This record gives sequence, C-alpha cells and structure tokens, in this order.
Amino acid sequence: MTPEVKPLVAGNWKMNGTRASLDQIKAMAEGVKGDLSDKVESLICPPVSLLYVATALADDSPLKIGAQDCHQKVSGAHTGDVSAEMIADCFGTHVIVGHSERRTDHKEDDALIRAKAESAYAANLIAIICIGETESERKSGRTLDVLKAQLAGSVPDTATAANTVIAYEPVWAIGTGLTPTVEDIEEAHAFMRAELASRFSGEGSKMRILYGGSVKPGNARELMAIANVDGALIGGASLKAQDFLSIYGAYEELTA
Ligand code: 13P
Repeated sequence: MTPEVKPLVAGNWKMNGTRASLDQIKAMAEGVKGDLSDKVESLICPPVSLLYVATALADDSPLKIGAQDCHQKVSGAHTGDVSAEMIADCFGTHVIVGHSERRTDHKEDDALIRAKAESAYAANLIAIICIGETESERKSGRTLDVLKAQLAGSVPDTATAANTVIAYEPVWAIGTGLTPTVEDIEEAHAFMRAELASRFSGEGSKMRILYGGSVKPGNARELMAIANVDGALIGGASLKAQDFLSIYGAYEELTA
C-alpha cells in the first residue's frame, strides 16, 4: 500500500463472459456496497459486448465498469475496433491498455500503447497501463530495465495520478498460479515508484501501481500488504463474484 493512495481492486475478464455472466456482475455490484467502498475502489472490465448492460447493472453501486482495450483514434475505418469515446459513451470509466496479451497477440508496442492511453485521457477515461517482464527477461536479470523502458515508452507525459493507473503484471505469472516472491514484488514496485516520482514528481508519488498475475483469495492479503502495491489486476479469479469479493475483502483488515 502507499499512504494516502486509495487502492483499486480491478478485474479483467479477458475474452470470457456472455449474458449469463451478468449475474456475477450484479452480485459484485451488490457486494461492494458498504463502508469499505469509501477506502477501496472496485472495477470490472468485462468483454465490450457486455459493457453497456454491465454499466446499467452497476449504476447504483460503487463498482465501476471499464473496457480491456481501445483504438488510439476517435473514429474511422478501423473494422472491429472500439474507441475510447465509445467506451465512455457506454458509461465505462476505465480502459486497460498494453496488456501483455495484446502486446503479444496484436504486436502492440510502447508507442501505440502510449497513443491509446492519450486517447483514453481525451475521452475522460482512466487508463490502466500494463507493463511486465517475460520469464526469459527475468531469468537474465533484466526485469528492472524492462520496466524502466516500458514505463518510459508507454506512459504519456500528460499522465497524472487521476488519469492513470500502472499495472505491473509479470508475463510468466499470468494465468500460471505462479507469483513472484514478496521481496521481488516489493523491489519492482519500489523501482516503479521511484521512476514515476522522478518523472511526474507529486503525481508520480500518488499514481496507483497495481500488481497482477495469479492474484487469488488465498494470496490477496499478503500481496496487497506490500509497500507500493496499490491494488490488484485480477484475471481468472475475477470471473466469480465470490472470489472477486473475497480479494476485495482482504482490504477489510488492511485498512482497519
Ligand atoms: P490471472 O489473474 O488469471 O493470472 O490474470 C492476470 C491478468 O492478466 C489480469 O490482467
């Protein structure tokens, strides 16, 4: 955690979920009502097919709804793409950009991710910018160099603590059940904090840095207690309301 920074517990459903899954969103929207929501923010990013209905379901709840990607342009001849403006039009509040699956599947590079984040700002969305090293980069001792380069390349100069969330997701920890050690996460987050503070001064000191990669109900309390870990970006365990709410609930004790 970072003093005076409100943590964010965010779920990324990836390419999972149909209308039948809306019951889970309904349960999450109910489950986050209560005093803890004054201290912790919650967000679910379903597939864009469910976005508009999901925002309506969460309308009277502190649960926010976002998207998983956006195009860097506002509109035009880009078949299959969705703009940040369209996400905002569906009452989405956040958009994930630069997830490692998009960096790999769609060959997205830092410059494109930066442009996507800028388009998110233009639509008044909060950009969740993902970075993280691969297994071979970690094994060859290059983790911090990779994080430095991705932060420098993917995060726009106009980033503030209000419009940007950084998500550190070691690629080898995603969907594998593996997580870095507490010491490794602490080192990576302290490094990212120092980089952000040196580039954005006060804004960088307050910018949220989430950890993502095999966050589960069973490890959430330990991971969320680490210095400079300001929440989680959760994949698999965010699909079920019970698991998501249990991770969110880890903050009951941490914020007591
Ligand atoms: P898992 O929680 O399934 O490892 O996924 C993490 C992730 O990629 C969230 O964006």
